[in-house]
Amino acid sequence: MKILVTGAAGFIGSELALRLLKEGHDVTGVDCFTAYYDVNLKRNRVKRLLEYKNFRMHEVHVEDEDAMTAAFNDSKPEIVVHLAAQAGVRYSLDHPREYISSNIVGSFNVIELARLHGIKHLVVASTSSAYGANQKFPFEETDAAPHPLTIYAATKLSSELIAHSHSHLYGTPTTLLRFFSVYGPWGRPDMAFFLFTDRIFKGQPIDVYNHGDLMRDFTYIDDLVESIRRLMDTPPVAGMSVTRNDSLSPVAPYRLVNIGHATPVRLMDYIEAIETAIGKTAVKNMLDMQPGDVKQTYADVSLLEALTGYVPTTDVKDGIQAFVEWYRDYYKPD
Ligand SMILES: NC(=O)c1ccc[n+]([C@@H]2O[C@H](COP(=O)([O-])OP(=O)(O)OC[C@H]3O[C@@H](n4cnc5c(N)ncnc54)[C@H](O)[C@@H]3O)[C@@H](O)[C@H]2O)c1
Repeated sequence: MKILVTGAAGFIGSELALRLLKEGHDVTGVDCFTAYYDVNLKRNRVKRLLEYKNFRMHEVHVEDEDAMTAAFNDSKPEIVVHLAAQAGVRYSLDHPREYISSNIVGSFNVIELARLHGIKHLVVASTSSAYGANQKFPFEETDAAPHPLTIYAATKLSSELIAHSHSHLYGTPTTLLRFFSVYGPWGRPDMAFFLFTDRIFKGQPIDVYNHGDLMRDFTYIDDLVESIRRLMDTPPVAGMSVTRNDSLSPVAPYRLVNIGHATPVRLMDYIEAIETAIGKTAVKNMLDMQPGDVKQTYADVSLLEALTGYVPTTDVKDGIQAFVEWYRDYYKPD
């Protein structure tokens, strides 16, 4: 199959692209290698992809309509997986404009080009942050989510809505994926699991927000990739609900799907798993809650299971162990 993956130099995009290349698909990657975090890490992720002759890379901004048109013409994709985004909840407090251009203008370009190319399935990354101030746990895709707490979440909700209107008007089968705190080898240096590991190895204090009283539904990267891969083969069909709580739109071949482990973990237990894997205790800088943060995330994954017969299973201790082993091998901190 011909597949276009945006954000192919990113954590999730590179892992998904690798999986697709190993399966023998023709993969076109799109990424502009933003300097939001270590660009070398992004280049090294892509190096692994360039070893496959069924891979090609377009180094472009998703908001550049002409460059994206060229990438689509080159790829002629049957499936598009749109993962490129200015990610990160906290950075959005100080850099809101980057989110508007990458996540709204850029996503619109991808959604528009996907419909012009009449693709079979458009898969777009959203986030658990879309649930915003919701207090009903676990989060279900059919819950109304009108109260985003950050510009990041607001831009992701916006692209969900743009994708829905296009799916309704033009019939593009579209699945929006709400990811829950993804971690693992080749992960993102701005995320807590990476920052904690890095600082513990270096003997530097770690910042623990809300005095550790936070819970997160942490999803291991391999489980996430397996879920995305299965969902790619399951495009929504208008009027064909699979469960009573299916988020399928009543007016479009469009649905939202959570991908999480469905097992919230206390932040202090997560830190302890990292300490154990490294063999060192962290110096903890206990701080108040950050603006825009939520106390808990928790995914209902019954829709994912009904659609794919699969749910994430990797225990946090095993996932952290695998990440710390990768970190040791990649950065040689000892
Ligand atoms: N990692 C998580 O825990 C998590 C959770 C929820 C949602 N998500 C979403 O999943 C997707 C992938 O996340 P990730 O963790 O791999 O992040 P990432 O930052 O590692 O990957 C995103 C990639 O997009 C690229 N990019 C950013 N702006 C771009 C632009 N304007 N044009 C072209 N490329 C651009 C970046 O260079 C980067 O390589 C994102 O949409 C993110 O919002 C991730």
